[in-house]
Amino acid sequence: MTNATTPTQDAAAREQDAKALAGRLSGQVIVGGRVTAGLTRDSFAVENPANGEIIGSAPRCGAQDVAHAVDAAAAACPRWAAVPGRQRSLLLLEAASRLEAEAESIAGLSSLETGNAIATQTRGEARTMVDIFRFFAGMANEAKGKTVPLTERQFLFTKRVPVGVVGAIIPWNAPLMQTASKLAPALAAGNTVVLKTAEQAPLAVVRILEILQQVLPPGVANVISGFGEEAGRPLAEHPAVRKVTFTGSSAVGAQILHYAADKIVPVTAELGGKNPNIVMPDADLDLAVAGIVQGMRLFRQGQSCTAGTRIYIHADIYRDVLDRVIAEFGNSRMGNPLDEATQVGALISAEQLARVERYVAMARDTPGARILVGGERPADPLLRRGYFFLPTLIEGVPSTSPVCRDEIFGPVATVTPWTDFDRVIAEANDSPYGLAAVLWTRDLARAMDFIDRIEAGFVQVNQFSVAEAGIEYGGVKLSGIGRELSPESMVEHFTWSKTVIINHGTPGA
Ligand code: NAI
Ligand code: MG
Repeated sequence: MTNATTPTQDAAAREQDAKALAGRLSGQVIVGGRVTAGLTRDSFAVENPANGEIIGSAPRCGAQDVAHAVDAAAAACPRWAAVPGRQRSLLLLEAASRLEAEAESIAGLSSLETGNAIATQTRGEARTMVDIFRFFAGMANEAKGKTVPLTERQFLFTKRVPVGVVGAIIPWNAPLMQTASKLAPALAAGNTVVLKTAEQAPLAVVRILEILQQVLPPGVANVISGFGEEAGRPLAEHPAVRKVTFTGSSAVGAQILHYAADKIVPVTAELGGKNPNIVMPDADLDLAVAGIVQGMRLFRQGQSCTAGTRIYIHADIYRDVLDRVIAEFGNSRMGNPLDEATQVGALISAEQLARVERYVAMARDTPGARILVGGERPADPLLRRGYFFLPTLIEGVPSTSPVCRDEIFGPVATVTPWTDFDRVIAEANDSPYGLAAVLWTRDLARAMDFIDRIEAGFVQVNQFSVAEAGIEYGGVKLSGIGRELSPESMVEHFTWSKTVIINHGTPGA
């Protein structure tokens, strides 16, 4: 890791713009097409994780605000559902264009409140957000049913019907992308939405929703802010919310399933991961080394459910690959997320930093375990005010250790040499999670074997990319239920099927 750059003029100007926007959006939610302070009298502070400065605030919504927003969404529902698909499509395309025009400032604001670097994360994330809106705009007329040949005198068809009001709850790690992943398919399919932002990063999402209001009818897309138990729970429990879509921790995902169970309402849950990244001895090592670094998602400080945090490298190439990975770490630049030269930013909060430090300390106390690189905060005094942590590799941790089993959600991975393919697959599958998995090999038969045997919803060979519009995403086991980002997932999760049989008799009978 090279030293932080002294803040450039460019970064300072960008930071000033982002702060001005944060100030303007502070204390606001959007309900029924109106930007308001909400019904609550309480608010909470929003922090810049790169230096601990308070940059704004957001309303601390409770059940009353939830009810208000759900009422607005319910009132808007029949008319939005009745808008022809092609027309909804045009409106969502227009919304995408307006978001695109503001993408740079949305990215800057997101960097300010998340600590994610603009050059490597939020600018690209804003592009992905626009792309997801465009993609699902094109799908607005694709919620189709089917026809079934039943008998000569009966015609059977199915209709896909919007579910109604969708409750969406998102985390803080990639809020632009997550907002688009929830809103775009739900709206395209004819639903209205109440979205609850994450308490750590509400502002850029409020900006996105503010832009959507320029195009969408009032009440179609609403946003509230607040804490999990106080705002998320009443949203998930509200009787008029007919679908809950959630991204976050597995523990909260399980609670949400309970809330929705009492009213028999479906839930999509994109939860945690502890993803295996396996390198075969025959792999293209240039690709594999780059894939290990990219897979650790260092550009989001490892705060990604897809991150490849259990790295298994064949013993024959183990040291060589590790040396090269560690050298790559040394080339990445950590610093002010708003600086164009910065590649790695800050963790989201003091809480997340403490969590990462706790797991690293646990590894340090494990007999036989060794921290190969990182394991601490950077020494640079410029970075000491923020929640920065060096990319970290840990060797020799038993697979039963929480360091190997829990989602740490930081720039920390375990590395393990292996020699037996069956054993490494078994170890990869010995996890409560089942989200992503990656194998590096030139052997096609091995790759197909891996694909068959690995327990993961998102499997890649010789690449480590993340989901995007049109690429279906989701996990098994503690990683969640349901899929996102594909046309099929839009139809499956944001509409229900009505079976219709018309008994038209036989002509002349
Ligand atoms: P979290 O799961 O507690 O929060 C995610 C969202 O759920 C936030 O909007 C939060 O307000 C809401 N929430 C929390 N409790 C709720 C409840 N009882 N009812 C309804 N909504 C509720 O995640 P948190 O606390 O931010 O991070 C803790 C850990 O969770 C991380 O270290 C990481 O391991 C995991 N996580 C995984 C994510 C993923 O993308 N899979 C994203 C964020 C966190
Ligand atoms: Mg939590």
